[in-house]
Amino acid sequence: MHILVTGGAGFIGANFVQQVVREHPGTKVTVLDALTYAGDEHSLDPVADAITFVKGDVADADTVDPLVADADAVVHFAAESHNDNSLAEPWPFVRTNIVGTYTLLEAVRRHGTRYHHISTDEVYGDLELDDPAKFTPETPYNPSSPYSATKAGSDMLVRAWVRSFGVAATISNCSNNYGPYQHVEKFIPRQITNLIDGVRPKLYGTGQNVRDWIHVDDHNAAVWQILAQGRIGETYLIGADGEVDNKTVVETLLELMGQPADAYDLVSDRPGHDLRYAIDATRLREELGWEPRYTSFRDGLAATVAWYRANEDWWRPQKDATEAKYASLGR
Ligand code: NAD
Ligand code: DAU
Repeated sequence: MHILVTGGAGFIGANFVQQVVREHPGTKVTVLDALTYAGDEHSLDPVADAITFVKGDVADADTVDPLVADADAVVHFAAESHNDNSLAEPWPFVRTNIVGTYTLLEAVRRHGTRYHHISTDEVYGDLELDDPAKFTPETPYNPSSPYSATKAGSDMLVRAWVRSFGVAATISNCSNNYGPYQHVEKFIPRQITNLIDGVRPKLYGTGQNVRDWIHVDDHNAAVWQILAQGRIGETYLIGADGEVDNKTVVETLLELMGQPADAYDLVSDRPGHDLRYAIDATRLREELGWEPRYTSFRDGLAATVAWYRANEDWWRPQKDATEAKYASLGR
């Protein structure tokens, strides 16, 4: 099988490509990535000889069409992915996440190519802290930020292309990922690299917001299973029952990195900050037999801390510009 992986130089995409090369030899992989500030070709260094890399834009039909024509399947990770950026400048999110998805859908429609769409649990909005409910495939869409609204829009395009044009697509909506190669703008790597630099972690608001953490390798194993065995037209929610509040995440990192539990600062909150996410992954578990391999968040965090300690060459070039952006927001 020849797969075209968009956004393969980003956090989840690069881990996906590495996993496919490692665990599914014989799969031909082409990566299409624009190498925005969030993309780094070095994230593919361990597999560079085993794949083809194309620098290009998913919203450019002339770039996309021949690549899709050559592939048996497309796995679409490419996106503008950071909520804080979407609040400061929404347009790149509309362009990449909506126009980019439209461009790929038109190409897979022309060429009859299998398509898997990577999306987020944020399309469902948020839950109250004391609500026993979790997101299911039936939960109504209710996105809060420009980022999540553009992801919701892209999901709707996929559903319409399945129903109206018979495109062979599946969708997955996953919760918060952590692991190696995540950009230092995101919560966990930001705090780890701050602590390495002797800077106190920064919690938005009161730190009570809850995220449902999953290791990136568990997300990607689920994506592979959906690609191979998922029902066409279906939506699968991916999550590993990993709900933790942000304050607890920071306290765990402080402990793992040898600092007092209260050595963090509270900073101004994100506007419209979603309170809690929680995924019910019953369909994925029961239909496809998927189970997470990372069952201890603490062990997964410890491994992630070790990775950032060992790979300063990878993250250091992004750090100053990222912190300058946060400083301009007062966070
Ligand atoms: P990321 O920001 O780390 O990587 C995005 C990649 O897409 C980068 O390599 C970037 O260069 C590339 N890209 C951006 N615009 C492009 C364009 N116009 N053309 C081609 N390439 C472009 O993002 P991530 O965290 O790896 O997220 C990947 C996907 O997974 C996204 O669709 C995101 O919505 C989804 N998702 C992320 C999470 C999470 O916790 N990070 C959870 C659920 C779903
Ligand atoms: O739920 C899936 C989503 O998870 C993905 O769709 C997004 O692409 C991904 O970025 C992530 O979104 P979040 O907004 O939840 O992730 P982020 O890492 O930005 O923040 C996680 C939580 O930590 C959130 O409640 C905000 C908070 N936070 C974040 C930063 C950067 C802090 O308290 N301090 C910080 O410095």
